[in-house]
Amino acid sequence: MTILTIKTQALSDQKPGTSGLRKKVKQFQKKHYLENFVQSIFSAINCPENSTLVVGGDGRYHNETAIQTILKMAAANGIKRVLVGQNGLLSTPAVSNLIRKYGCVGGIVLSASHNPGGPNGDFGIKFNASNGGPAPEAVTDAIYTISKSISEYHICDVVDVDLNAIGKTQLDDMTVEIIDPVSDYQKMMESLFDFDAIRSLFATGFTMKFDAMHAITGPYAKAIFEDCLGAREGSVINSKPLPDFGGCHPDPNPVYAKELVDHMFGDEASDFGAASDGDGDRNIILGTGIYVAPSDSLAILTANAHLAPAYKEGVCGAARSMPTSMAIDRVADKLGIPCFETPTGWKFFGNLLDAGKITICGEESAGTGSDHVREKDGVWAVLLWLNILAVTQKSVLEIITDHWNAYGRNYYSRHDYEAIDKGVAEALMSGLRSRKNTLVGTKQGDEVVATVDDFEYHDPVDGSIASKQGIRVIFESGSRIVFRLSGTGTDGATLRVYLERYQDVDSDLALETQTALEAIISAADNIAEISKLTGMSEPTVIS
Ligand code: G1P
Ligand code: ZN
Repeated sequence: MTILTIKTQALSDQKPGTSGLRKKVKQFQKKHYLENFVQSIFSAINCPENSTLVVGGDGRYHNETAIQTILKMAAANGIKRVLVGQNGLLSTPAVSNLIRKYGCVGGIVLSASHNPGGPNGDFGIKFNASNGGPAPEAVTDAIYTISKSISEYHICDVVDVDLNAIGKTQLDDMTVEIIDPVSDYQKMMESLFDFDAIRSLFATGFTMKFDAMHAITGPYAKAIFEDCLGAREGSVINSKPLPDFGGCHPDPNPVYAKELVDHMFGDEASDFGAASDGDGDRNIILGTGIYVAPSDSLAILTANAHLAPAYKEGVCGAARSMPTSMAIDRVADKLGIPCFETPTGWKFFGNLLDAGKITICGEESAGTGSDHVREKDGVWAVLLWLNILAVTQKSVLEIITDHWNAYGRNYYSRHDYEAIDKGVAEALMSGLRSRKNTLVGTKQGDEVVATVDDFEYHDPVDGSIASKQGIRVIFESGSRIVFRLSGTGTDGATLRVYLERYQDVDSDLALETQTALEAIISAADNIAEISKLTGMSEPTVIS
C-alpha cells in the first residue's frame, strides 16, 4: 500500500469548543488544515488493532470532500474498517448508535450543527469516543496538544471511494462499508417506543408537521413518521438535505424555524409540530398555537417517560446543563430521583449516562436525550412526545397546562447577543467576575441578589473539574440570571444571557414569557452593562 507521509506546519487555533472544532468552510479548505486535525485525532486515540470507525456528516458543503480525506487518512493510520453513511450522510445520534451497536473505536462527525452552511458558511469536525458520545475533555485536550506540535500526517495515495454505492469496498487494507444512514437508527427507535400506538394516533386523523430545515433529519423523518408511522404525505417539510440548507439557518428556534411556527400559529395548524437542526440532535416542539420551551419539554418528557416502553420501569436520574431551567428539578424531586447540574455541552452527560446515574438529560438549547445513545437526539424527542400524546390522548396544550398546574411554571428565556467584538465580550465577562462579590445584597428592581458565582463542575464519576462555566446570579426569590460566552460560534463572540423566574401553582401561569421576565431582563442589563458595553439595545435572538 502507498502511504504518504506529508510534512505540515503545526497550528495554534485547533482547540475544540463546546462541540468539536468549528470554523468557516474557507478555513477548512486551507492546505493541511483538516489533515492536521484528523491526524491529531488518530494520534491521540492510538487505535487498537482491528478497529472500526464510523464517519458521516450532516451533508453540509465540504462534507464529502472531507470524508474522502478522512478515509484515506484512516487507512494510512491503521484503521481496519470504516462505516460510512450513504453519500456521507449520518445524523449525530445515528453515529452515536452505530458506534455503540458495532463496538467501534469511535466516530468522526462532520457538522457545525445549527450553524449556517454553504461555501461561505461553517464547517466542523468532532470526534466521538467508543461509548458513542463526544470525546471527554481529556481527549479533546490531547488532540489540541498534538495539533500544536504536529509536523507530519499520513495519508494513502488512492482514488476516491464511491460514497453513493451501498456495500463494501477496499481502500488498501481497510474495508469501507457504505451503509443506509437510516435503517439501524430506525430499528433502535422501534425498540424504544410504542409504534403501534403512534400509528393508531395518526390513523385517527392526527396531523403533524416536521421541519427538517433542509438538513440531515429529512430522510430519517420521512422514513419514520410518514412511511412507517403513517403521518400523511407532506408532514415532513424541507426534507432534502442541501449543502447550504437552502440558504437558511438550520437552528430550530422560533426565529429560524419561522415557516413551521407560522404554520402552527395559523388557521391550518397541525395538531403537533416539531423541527430539528443541521445534524439532527436538537428538537423544538409545538402544539396548535403554542411553542413548548425546550426546558419545559425536558421536564415534561421526564415526568411522562414511563408511558413509553423503553422507560416503563421509570427514570433512575436526570440531568440538565446549568443554564437550563430548573423545571426538571421539580419533576426529579417529585419522582425522588437525583437531578445533576452540568456545564453546557453534551460531553458532560457522558459519564453520568455511562455510570447508570441518569436516564434522561437535556439542555435549554433544544437538546434532549436519554441513555439510548450518547448524544442528544431530535427525532427521539419527537417520538417520545408522540408516544405520550398517543397514550394520554391529550393535546400538546393540555399536556403543558397540566404540567404547570402540577409543578408551577419556570418562566424562562435565553437572550443572545451575536457577533459582538471578542474583546468587548471578554471585558464584559471579566467585569462581571470582578464585581461578583459587590453584587451580593444589591437590589435590582424588586429582586435582591443572594449569591453570585462562577459555575464550577466536579464530575461525580471521574472527579474531573470544569471551571469558569458561566456567571450565575441567583436572587433571594429563586429567580436566576446566567451569563456565558458561546463556545460554538465562528463570528466574533456571542453573549448568552439566560433568564429564569419561578411562579408556583397558585399564581398566574399564563403570562407571556418576556413580560413575565421583564424585571429580570432589565436587571441583567444593569448587572452586566450589556447595552453600555456592546452598544446593542436588543438581543439578536430571543428563544
Ligand atoms: C451551544 C448550546 C449548548 C450545546 C452546543 C452544541 O453551545 O448553548 O447547549 O450543547 O451549542 O449543540 P454554546 O454556543 O452556547 O457554547
Ligand atoms: Zn446539532
